[in-house]
Amino acid sequence: MRIIAFYSPKGGVGKTAAAVNIAYLASQHGLTTLLWDLDPQGAASFYLSGAEPVKGRKLSKLLAGKAPVAEFVRDNVYPGLDFIPSHPSFRNFDIKLEEGGQSLKSVLAPFSEETSLVVLDCPPSLSRLTEQVLELSDRVYVPLVPTWLSLNSWEQLQAFVRSKKLGRKKLRPFFSLVDRRKKLHKDLIESPDRRLGEPLSVSIPYASVVERMGEEGLPLEVLAPATPAAAAFRQLWAEIEKDL
Ligand SMILES: Nc1ncnc2c1ncn2[C@@H]1O[C@H](COP(=O)(O)OP(=O)(O)OP(=O)(O)O)[C@@H](O)[C@H]1O
Ligand SMILES: [Mg+2]
Repeated sequence: MRIIAFYSPKGGVGKTAAAVNIAYLASQHGLTTLLWDLDPQGAASFYLSGAEPVKGRKLSKLLAGKAPVAEFVRDNVYPGLDFIPSHPSFRNFDIKLEEGGQSLKSVLAPFSEETSLVVLDCPPSLSRLTEQVLELSDRVYVPLVPTWLSLNSWEQLQAFVRSKKLGRKKLRPFFSLVDRRKKLHKDLIESPDRRLGEPLSVSIPYASVVERMGEEGLPLEVLAPATPAAAAFRQLWAEIEKDL
């Protein structure tokens, strides 16, 4: 079982859109995939309609080992794609992780036999939960809007990962919400700043069809497969698959 995460300390950069599209594409390519929406605001849950939280189950029970994780899972939202929707009780995930004495890693362990790929959609905070995500993931994909400010937050993330010894090499940046009509976007993509190391070669364009994913509750590959944005997500998947 491989674990990947979409994470950035910055909000609204395309983490959730990428997590949902990549989880869907992975399942279509024959990997049994589990997508977990770790964000209490639950945006991924909007992108996959019909995937409401499982009622009555409390995260605290899960973390205390009193409820199996399977009870939180929506099976086969699409063939081969299971989903743990956001749950209101995830709001205090951090505190509960510490109180319950369990780690995210131990919570995920029961999936290891049947699941090939876990995709974690993370909230934009830098918390104990994020630290665990960064630690246990094999790769962490970091969407970057091509601006100077996002280079700063990239450097801060790298410094954080280095100081906590979480494995700096697992971080993979890629450009997101790209508008090639903007000179700065074009310049930063054509000659990426050396601080980025080796960003993925794909860049995800700014496209209104991506916004429609939320309204329609569908992955882009189902909603509008012929669009350039859908092609970009397929390329993102191809690069991730090679990386796994
Ligand atoms: N490539 C894109 N083109 C246009 N709009 C996009 C694109 N990607 C995401 N969006 C829109 O931008 C907003 C933020 O996207 P998304 O939820 O994926 O970001 P996020 O990084 O997960 O945000 P948060 O930090 O709040 O979790 C959403 O309204 C989404 O529809
Ligand atoms: Mg999000």
